[in-house]
Amino acid sequence: WLLPASVLLMSYLLGSIPFGLLLTRLTGAGDLRKIGSGNIGATNVLRTGRKGLAAATLLLDLLKGVAAVLIGAALVDGGGPMAGAMAFIGHCYPVWLRFAGGKGVATMMGVVTALHWPAGIVFALVWLGALFGTRWSSVGGMAAGISAPVALWFMGRIDLVPATLALTLILLWRHRGNIARLAKGTEPRIGASKG
Ligand code: G3P
Repeated sequence: WLLPASVLLMSYLLGSIPFGLLLTRLTGAGDLRKIGSGNIGATNVLRTGRKGLAAATLLLDLLKGVAAVLIGAALVDGGGPMAGAMAFIGHCYPVWLRFAGGKGVATMMGVVTALHWPAGIVFALVWLGALFGTRWSSVGGMAAGISAPVALWFMGRIDLVPATLALTLILLWRHRGNIARLAKGTEPRIGASKG
């Protein structure tokens, strides 16, 4: 049990690295916690005006999910889904930030892609479609999150549905502030001057 437990812990720690916060701090782009939504994800990094940094945040947060699944699967038989889920939980609830982390979209995209890449493609397409269709990043992220268990179901990977569905529910919970703003009509769109 020691190996599975250490793999889960390592996955959590990997997922808990707040790349958005680190990159913006290291480059002097500002304190993400005091900008826009206060979130540590790529969308909020974009609100600093640094597109390259936002892209790097998206990529690194995504790669955390990919790496956790691949390492988990290599070290523990069938360990990919749990390791991926732990990286996702690490991203959303990092011990370093008193458990106040991100909303999980990029990391979930990485986890889903590494578990079953066709579902990762669906995730990315739904995300981009809803994002560019509405220009609400949160709507893109939530739509993509919901698409993952549905896509896996239709692709016959029922074995991956429970873990993915759990991530979707956490992702939606992490977006509850966005949902409230969407309902009130105050959620800012990407590209709008005010975050
Ligand atoms: O991935 C986070 C995104 O869906 C929403 O971010 O900063 O607009 O709350 P934000």
